[in-house]
Amino acid sequence: MEIREFKPEDKNILAKIYTDCFREPPWLEEFGQQEVGNMFIQVSKWLDTIFLVAEHKGEIVGGAIAYDLARKEDVAALVPASTTDRAIYMAELFVEKPCRNCGVGRSLIIARLALAKMFGYANMVARTSIDQPIIKHLYCNRLGATVVAEQKVSSYHRTQIVERQKVMVPDQRLIMAGRIPEEVLVETLLKVWPLAQRKRSTF
Ligand SMILES: CC(C)(COP(=O)(O)OP(=O)(O)OC[C@H]1O[C@@H](n2cnc3c(N)ncnc32)[C@H](O)[C@@H]1OP(=O)(O)O)[C@@H](O)C(=O)NCCC(=O)NCCS
Repeated sequence: MEIREFKPEDKNILAKIYTDCFREPPWLEEFGQQEVGNMFIQVSKWLDTIFLVAEHKGEIVGGAIAYDLARKEDVAALVPASTTDRAIYMAELFVEKPCRNCGVGRSLIIARLALAKMFGYANMVARTSIDQPIIKHLYCNRLGATVVAEQKVSSYHRTQIVERQKVMVPDQRLIMAGRIPEEVLVETLLKVWPLAQRKRSTF
């Protein structure tokens, strides 16, 4: 598996994976692929964006976006002041179903955090559904983040028909925050640099 930077020509395949992933429970969100593809292009142009894709055997299997927390005002307002300073917001993460539970999601998290740390970020903030235990596990159990807030989110992407009317169905979200751990740099080095692996085995 390889992690690399997003390229504009990835947008269609990535938008298909994204719309499939967020149609699943607990999200149950309906996005148009064109709308998502356009969002990817727009977000990729922001100077603070870290937009990565994961490839397996030459096929894109997942993607991840992060950007400065200041862009996500509703989340920043709920995060304690101690973790809003130089904070990266881990905005999107999605891996296609057949490739899950093989470490792709974690690799996309680690790579974004390692880059963010290199760019001077000190803290990480992520948000997920209260019914998405995998993300909570990856940030809290594996990377030392803690749940700092809950937020009820309504979106026109998540609706149901009630008495012939389309109504939004709110979702309860968890917001997690913490320091970006040093281990993300070590883990990244060990992945990309064979010398680091050889040296480690001699210590
Ligand atoms: C969340 C998602 C990105 C994870 O991707 P992935 O490639 O399967 O993740 P990984 O294989 O790196 O890690 C999965 C981890 O969750 C753990 N896990 C799996 N099912 C779990 C569950 N029900 N509860 C808690 N942990 C669980 C695995 O054991 C593994 O942890 P470990 O490495 O400590 O053993 C993927 O499931 C996905 O795209 N889901 C749909 C979209 C989504 O929910 N995105 C997140 C938006 S916030």
